[in-house]
Amino acid sequence: MTVPVTPLADLADPHPALAALREDGPVRRLDLRMGLPVWVVARYDDVLAALSDPRLSNDPHHAGALTELLRGDFLSRSMIGTDPPEHTRLRRLVSKAFTARRVEGLRPRVREITDALLDRITPRGGAELVGEFALPLPVTVIGELLGVPEGDRDRFRGWTDEMLDRPFDPRSDMARVTAARERMHGYLAELVAAKRARPADDLLTDLIEVTDEGERLDGQELMAMIFLLLIAGYVTTVGLIANGTLALLRAPDQLDRLRADPTLVPQAVEELLRFDGPVNPGLTRYALEDLEIGGARIPRGDVVLLAIAAADRDPDRFPDPDRLDVGATDPGHLAFGHGVHYCLGAPLARLEGQVAFTALLARLPGLALGVDEDELRWTGGGVLRGLRELPVTFTPTPTP
Ligand code: HEM
Repeated sequence: MTVPVTPLADLADPHPALAALREDGPVRRLDLRMGLPVWVVARYDDVLAALSDPRLSNDPHHAGALTELLRGDFLSRSMIGTDPPEHTRLRRLVSKAFTARRVEGLRPRVREITDALLDRITPRGGAELVGEFALPLPVTVIGELLGVPEGDRDRFRGWTDEMLDRPFDPRSDMARVTAARERMHGYLAELVAAKRARPADDLLTDLIEVTDEGERLDGQELMAMIFLLLIAGYVTTVGLIANGTLALLRAPDQLDRLRADPTLVPQAVEELLRFDGPVNPGLTRYALEDLEIGGARIPRGDVVLLAIAAADRDPDRFPDPDRLDVGATDPGHLAFGHGVHYCLGAPLARLEGQVAFTALLARLPGLALGVDEDELRWTGGGVLRGLRELPVTFTPTPTP
């Protein structure tokens, strides 16, 4: 099979190109990111091994042919952009504040937020599910968890959109991204100062106060951590809910099966993450030394793309990988990553996904796509892929 020059360009249906990469590869050097050479790793076993390979760094400062764009990235100073031992210290500190108990305690509130959003939709018989449900749900949850005032949430969402929107052209878009980054920085500094002055019962206050054997987060680390949690806390979850809903609409037998047996929802969430998770094509790493993956020799300093979306449909790992099966019980997907950077928010994302799909199926009978498939618009091309909008129709029901 021949791999097209820009194999990941078809955001509406990237899976055939990802499959071609997997079959052609197993590791291919492509000019993907702004003309930079990128080694794409596409097979499950290779991606899994690479995710826990200490020779592959998360820190973009190790990239040889690096643009200012990568270097100035705010996230590169956060936990997700560092390696052990620095990463270990940061992760330990945040884990003390971001506990499993705190997340599980959120379940009733996540249900309330979900129901309030659906109350506005159910009587109408039609909705735009990204803007009216999939996005405001995680934004509200992470905003409340951290303690970001409700009135400010649209502002940080706007800056995030500016920073993450793709396709990105460094010649014309750099100034826009830098401006958004500076505004976000200024805002976070104000927020931290306000919390220091008036501590509250929220994660942000805990992050300010948390210590580990006398260690604390310094000012820059604290800001980078809040920024990471804010962004990671919603951009991906939007994708889980919206991509997942579309995947179910495309497989009506699976939608009916889930509606008939909502006890399947937790495993359906895992299957939706495997089948069309938001991290697509995958995660970026930087080679700390010359190394070999899947027979390819990768020079030190080169950029490596671990294509999770390809790995999670590898037929050598998942039988019949292109078929959605909400009853699947294999938890081996890589949608939350693997190794030391395994998603810190996975329990929260699972909770939100489970509450969201349970409520959507129960409260939107007759759910159907509101436009032709080819009218759907997608965003992505970097690390994430998701729907910009998801217009749907359903049988209206009065608000309870
Ligand atoms: C890391 C996916 C939701 C916080 C990651 C990674 C993946 C991922 C693949 C690994 C990154 C790497 O190895 O470079 C997802 C998906 C989500 C989701 C698919 C939703 C469906 C969340 C939520 C939070 C969160 C709700 C809440 C705060 C984080 C953080 C990290 C991370 C802080 C960095 C961990 C580290 O570097 O040690 N996520 N995530 N994520 N995620 Fe999530």
